[in-house]
Amino acid sequence: MTHPLHTRIIHDPDEAARLLTAGKLVAFPTETVYGLGAVALNADAVAAVFAAKQRPQFDPLIVHLSDTSRLPEVVDSVPETARRLADAFWPGPLTIVLPRSPRVPELVTAGRSTVGIRIPDHPAALALLRAVDRPLAAPSANPFGGVSPTTAWHVLHGLNGRIHAVLDGGPCRVGLESTVVSVAESEPVILRMGGIPVEEIEQVTGKVRIARRNPDLEDGAQPAPGMLSRHYAPRTPLFVIEPDASPVATQPRTGLLTWGSSQPAGFAAVECLSVTGDLRECAANFFAALRSLDSRNLDAIIARRFPEINLGRALNDRLSRAAGWRLETMESRGL
Ligand code: TXA
Ligand code: MG
Repeated sequence: MTHPLHTRIIHDPDEAARLLTAGKLVAFPTETVYGLGAVALNADAVAAVFAAKQRPQFDPLIVHLSDTSRLPEVVDSVPETARRLADAFWPGPLTIVLPRSPRVPELVTAGRSTVGIRIPDHPAALALLRAVDRPLAAPSANPFGGVSPTTAWHVLHGLNGRIHAVLDGGPCRVGLESTVVSVAESEPVILRMGGIPVEEIEQVTGKVRIARRNPDLEDGAQPAPGMLSRHYAPRTPLFVIEPDASPVATQPRTGLLTWGSSQPAGFAAVECLSVTGDLRECAANFFAALRSLDSRNLDAIIARRFPEINLGRALNDRLSRAAGWRLETMESRGL
């Protein structure tokens, strides 16, 4: 008889490195969200990551490095624009999609000719990457399609019994996943908005294009692999309202995800992300607040959109995708 695996919370990066080297799955903190790590060049360990998350194999993983000296192990070349982005934002919440080295297993890149690379800005993540002394593939450490984890407890909530350990590094500082940028074309393309605002990227590269999901295509046929119809999604139905709308509780038990100083009445639960409306604070608290509302057996969650600038754009992207199919259904019906 096999015993169910019990996931341990650990605090020593060296212990996490030993487990990873032995082919085990270990979640680890980064400044954005917790990642579910596996040695990137170990195809079996990478396959186990897809299995633990129940992630479709068309969605490639990001490879994490301790520093740029390791780039030749996983990429074929580094275009000039990528070099400038790396100088400006690494270590930090930016993933650069680069031509892949043939050494990287096909599963990591979902058979693409490119690989997403990131150097995280978190002391425990960097200590781990140095101790393991190899690139680590790591998607966000949550079951596929769910809300991303920003604490070790969030990781356990979704993956307990499916992975070996979680390296606890406290709550994530940024709270939104990295910005994913492709430099394959002459004009850089943002594939996912995230912890580095588009405006800051444009200061380095000039004008960028933002890839958009095509609602007429299946998830596997989107312009970029991560553009899924339902993502970052709580179980409770989520409805998005405009920043200046007055929120109204539409059901007996309605929750509110908001920011700013007004205190609307009539809600069964309210999560205010930042009283001053500070977008960094909103981002840092976003996923934990969404999870908290989702755990309270509410009939619905109303979420207030953010100003469409800086981190507000990435936050609005997560909100739209958390509301997912509902928004697309409304748009296709012309509502
Ligand atoms: O902040 C983050 O990026 C976190 C931490 C752990 O680093 N990781 C993360 O991983 O959010 P994940 O797997 O949840 O999201 C990775 C995104 C997906 O949308 C994936 O499609 C995209 O990056 N991606 C990865 N490699 C790619 C590639 N070669 N081409 C295009 N998109 C890629
Ligand atoms: Mg994810």
